[in-house]
Amino acid sequence: MEREALLAALRLQLEWGADDALEALPVDRFAAPPPAAPVRPVVPARPAAVVVAPLALVPAPAAAAKLAGEADSLDALKDAIAATESTLRDTATNLVFSDGNPASGLMMIGEAPGADEDRAGKPFVGVSGRLLDRMVASIGLQRERDFYLTNILPWRPPGNRTPTDAEIMLFLPFLLRHIALIRPRHLVLLGGVSAKTLLRAKDGITRLRGRWHGLEVEGLGRLPALATLHPAYLLRSPAAKRDAWSDLLLLRRTLDGSVAPE
Ligand code: URA
Repeated sequence: MEREALLAALRLQLEWGADDALEALPVDRFAAPPPAAPVRPVVPARPAAVVVAPLALVPAPAAAAKLAGEADSLDALKDAIAATESTLRDTATNLVFSDGNPASGLMMIGEAPGADEDRAGKPFVGVSGRLLDRMVASIGLQRERDFYLTNILPWRPPGNRTPTDAEIMLFLPFLLRHIALIRPRHLVLLGGVSAKTLLRAKDGITRLRGRWHGLEVEGLGRLPALATLHPAYLLRSPAAKRDAWSDLLLLRRTLDGSVAPE
């Protein structure tokens, strides 16, 4: 990794409380015969990838699905979302469509805009967005250059409440069209709402995270999708940062080609 990314990784480790250089496993210095076999870092076993049903089968309000299907560019898609009636549109301030580099090959998908995103009209610009930027910087990724970001919902749910199933279903055809227009090589699903929606899973994020899933997208075939913890969850649950770090390393190794996604 570049020096800048190594420094970002060191800063993140310090911020997350890793202020001692320890091996992943304890070493018995008194054990005979020395030296003991090299201690291998704990690499979580990767269970078999889950293949999910084709996304085209998702039921959705017909009008929204038709509008989404007709959008042949990102601008047209944004206009189509803006034109779709919903109570969320009535309470939000700005449409939050996307940020980052659409040509990067890596697309990250969060849950829904919060108050900061609603004000700015951009995803992940608040406190969890800043944490996301620091996390991905630790594996050498920068938003403007290396990835593209959007959310399951384009409008902020009032009071940051969890999106309802009906809201998710209404906007899902737009998200699927968004993925089809971007044509990413890899997806990262940030948090339970994103992972469960796109992977059609009943399992929670703690079971889905840490491995690549296969996601059928119309026109693109099977896309590798890594489920991981949402940065907002990490802010509330510092102990989960260890898992998030292991997911980041898996993403880095996959992007480098040293691990196959499935
Ligand atoms: N959380 C999300 O899931 N998305 C955002 O854009 C901001 C916070």
